Amino acid sequence: MPHTRPNPDSSAQPADPSGRVARNTTPDRYAVVGFPISHSYSPLIHRLFAEQTGENLTYSRLAAKPKEFHRIVRRFAADGGRGLNVTVPHKEAAFELAEEIGSEAERAGAVNTLSFTDNGRIRGDNTDGIGFQRDIERNHGISLRGKRTLVLGAGGAARGVVAALLEVQPSELVLANRTVQRATDLLDILNAPANFSTCPLPALSDYQPFEVVVNATSLGLHSMELPFPPGCISEETFAYDLVYSPQRTPFVDWASRHGAGKAVQGWGMLVEQAGESFAIWRGVRPDTSPVLETVLAKARV
Ligand code: ATR
Repeated sequence: MPHTRPNPDSSAQPADPSGRVARNTTPDRYAVVGFPISHSYSPLIHRLFAEQTGENLTYSRLAAKPKEFHRIVRRFAADGGRGLNVTVPHKEAAFELAEEIGSEAERAGAVNTLSFTDNGRIRGDNTDGIGFQRDIERNHGISLRGKRTLVLGAGGAARGVVAALLEVQPSELVLANRTVQRATDLLDILNAPANFSTCPLPALSDYQPFEVVVNATSLGLHSMELPFPPGCISEETFAYDLVYSPQRTPFVDWASRHGAGKAVQGWGMLVEQAGESFAIWRGVRPDTSPVLETVLAKARV
């Protein structure tokens, strides 16, 4: 059950002998680390969560190229930083760096949330899968259980999505990828059940339209004709793009043009995964709905 902690009541704080109220005014430090990072919405999202819950923290951006990642993370922790969100291209490197791994991160083989514990250890969690599931189920009102589902792509992003779908139990899951061996390897790693199968992208034209289609390829940041057979889409299809952009993404455009009942970008996943990271760090679950509204308004989606 989501819950929020009220703002700290200053009258409950211990007073020093001079009668002044003693407050811990040093905020805890968090950041998002990635490359490039300048357009990240995470600082806005976490600032809104902190305002809403009364948590005393700051949240900034850290640019780190792959070679600098370990050094920058360790320095942030040594300087008293409490946690980092990790984004492209460092999620696998963060998995390697973490000394304690949560079960979702273990399954995804990737970490998007690092916590620096009081005993000096680095813990890694992955909140992308739960963010994906919550956005579709709560924000868009689509139950994933029992749905015929297609996931396009078999890279790092797809791994997190397929791992989350293992829990949800679709009636059938097809994992389609340009390089089909990569898809087969992914299902093997995840020990997927028999109703999860793979195919190359052109073979999708032999399938009936799916109820849920997820774009987890890296295609779709740039405008281009997408190499997916349109027969996988119908008016019954809910199409979900892990990519989000202030403009309409090429996948959302493609799915809409081919008649998808609904086609959405992953803005809600961005906010939901952040909410879960915040809950891990602070022990307080923020209300994500007003924050998503603000983010969409700022991005003018
Ligand atoms: P990410 O971490 O974002 O998932 P990735 O691991 O590089 O990035 O995976 C990119 C995904 O997009 C892969 O599924 C890739 O297909 P391959 O495994 O065959 O490389 C897919 N992809 C990238 N460019 C593509 C293209 N031009 N056509 C089809 N699929 C493409």
